[in-house]
Amino acid sequence: MSKKNIGAVTAISPIPAFIATVADKEGNSNLITISYGGIVNAIPPMVYMSVRDTRYSYRMLKETGEFVINIPGENLTKETDLCGILSASKVDKWEITKLTRIPASVVKAPMIEECPVNIECVTKHVIALGSHDIFIAEVVATHADEDVLSDNNKVMIEKFKPFAFCYNAQEYWTLNGLIGRYGWMAKEAE
Ligand SMILES: Cc1cc2nc3c(=O)[nH]c(=O)nc-3n(C[C@H](O)[C@H](O)[C@H](O)COP(=O)(O)O)c2cc1C
Repeated sequence: MSKKNIGAVTAISPIPAFIATVADKEGNSNLITISYGGIVNAIPPMVYMSVRDTRYSYRMLKETGEFVINIPGENLTKETDLCGILSASKVDKWEITKLTRIPASVVKAPMIEECPVNIECVTKHVIALGSHDIFIAEVVATHADEDVLSDNNKVMIEKFKPFAFCYNAQEYWTLNGLIGRYGWMAKEAE
């Protein structure tokens, strides 16, 4: 198979699509869909999301540095898309999506009740990269619906069916099932 050079493209696929909630000092909150996000450190637990300064959410984020990463299931793909194409500069996304805000335990930003996993984050570093600023944050609390948790508190994705985003093709895809486990080849490698 011959390879074609398609240029300098951030073609890492898939990546997540989650809904981040943000709030300003007065407690006004907003929802923004993020696909430039993920894990960056284990101890302490740290995550990141990259946000353009043109987003309405950006001002709130800069003001409090706090946000919640809400992981949607397949049943929330429409809401996820809506939060990524509509801006709070024009509409109230809570009103339009009918998503329910519930208080977080540490941060000012609310959590989305309908999302089975909610990760509370406090920003430690902001770095301007060009088009986006990266917010690198410490995880201060994580919540999950009890029915998506295993007996030892691991999130079971088969229970809430998260989906993936392909940035390159601009598509949302479901995940197809378990095909291996971390370290499952260890015995064979001996
Ligand atoms: C699937 C998807 C992923 C997105 N990822 C990001 C992202 O990582 N960073 C960002 O700044 N905007 C991202 N956006 C765009 C924002 O969500 C969008 O501009 C939104 O309307 C901003 O809302 P706000 O103006 O109310 O803050 C994404 C949109 C979609 C649909």
